Amino acid sequence: MKTAIYTAYGPPDTIGFVERPIPQPGPGDVLVRVRAAPVTAGDARLRSGIVPRGLGLMLRLAIGMRRPRVAPGWAFAGEVAGVGSGVTGFKSGQRVFGLTGFKGGSHREFLVIRADGPLLPLPETLSLEEGAAFFFGGLTAAEFLIDKAGLAAGERLLVCGATGAVGGAAVQIGRHLGARVAATASPANHAMARSLGAEEVTDYRVGPPVGPHDVILDVMGKLGWAGARGLLAPGGRYIQITADLWQMLGANLRPRRDGRRIITGTNKEDLASMQRLVDIHKAGGYTPALGPVLPFTDLAQAHAIAEGFHKPGNIVVTM
Ligand SMILES: NC(=O)c1ccc[n+]([C@@H]2O[C@H](COP(=O)([O-])OP(=O)(O)OC[C@H]3O[C@@H](n4cnc5c(N)ncnc54)[C@H](OP(=O)(O)O)[C@@H]3O)[C@@H](O)[C@H]2O)c1
Repeated sequence: MKTAIYTAYGPPDTIGFVERPIPQPGPGDVLVRVRAAPVTAGDARLRSGIVPRGLGLMLRLAIGMRRPRVAPGWAFAGEVAGVGSGVTGFKSGQRVFGLTGFKGGSHREFLVIRADGPLLPLPETLSLEEGAAFFFGGLTAAEFLIDKAGLAAGERLLVCGATGAVGGAAVQIGRHLGARVAATASPANHAMARSLGAEEVTDYRVGPPVGPHDVILDVMGKLGWAGARGLLAPGGRYIQITADLWQMLGANLRPRRDGRRIITGTNKEDLASMQRLVDIHKAGGYTPALGPVLPFTDLAQAHAIAEGFHKPGNIVVTM
């Protein structure tokens, strides 16, 4: 089977392909024929080693000093190609989607995953490409908006960077929760931001909608606390999705400022969070927007698009 590998930290052409034997499922395992996988901002960061200021050493201590010692690919959608002994919840031919997570391993033609791991049946209402794109932005937006910021019906939400993986999910989930959503996007993406559910859209190079907003979800973290503070209503929450080490430390050491709150950090990737997102989808609250869909052999090109941080929706490669 064709399997992607990282050969070094560096540009997209550091991705290589090797042929490996198709793995066999052991007891309690599921063998998945991967049909589609996203190429996320996280994939681009692991490959390039380019992360927000202060986090580079931590990344290298976690996954390798000289090259990323993780496998490419964070999530997948496909079909069950076989099950190991003792597996009753999945059967051959069934459409599934799931996560390989931080250790990676979805940018390949087959993978083995625990049946009780981050693996779920793919709803009929999602294509394989949408299934591949489903979790990255969706899990992030749902956890930050629901669990960390407690966004409530009737509140005003501003999403800065509203049409990528995280922002596109945040606009939809914000609307689903009953918030009134404003957004920023580059002019070419204003129609898309509106179609996802934003009522007011401005160009982030000119400035965000003035507010006041109860919650601001800032995908690229460009406002910073200095830029967000004046746009927040009393009791408002500023979610800085992309934050450097000093911003994270500051937010954790002193989250409450002037009756407002800063939120940074990461999100969980567990089965309960995945299932909640599926429930939101089934209630009509979230379907990931697709951007470029490329053949698996164009993985390096997909990485080049992902690391620009201007893609509309989600990039997916198909196997
Ligand atoms: N904290 C966490 O747990 C977590 C989880 C997931 C992702 N992230 C991080 O979140 C970021 C976004 O990920 P993604 O997958 O959503 O990326 P993406 O799909 O590439 O989307 C990036 C978005 O940011 C907008 N943008 C680009 N430059 C901007 C600027 N200067 N000001 C305002 N908006 C700007 C883009 O808008 P246009 O296309 O209109 O220019 C686009 O909507 C990445 O840094 C990623 O590492 C963090």
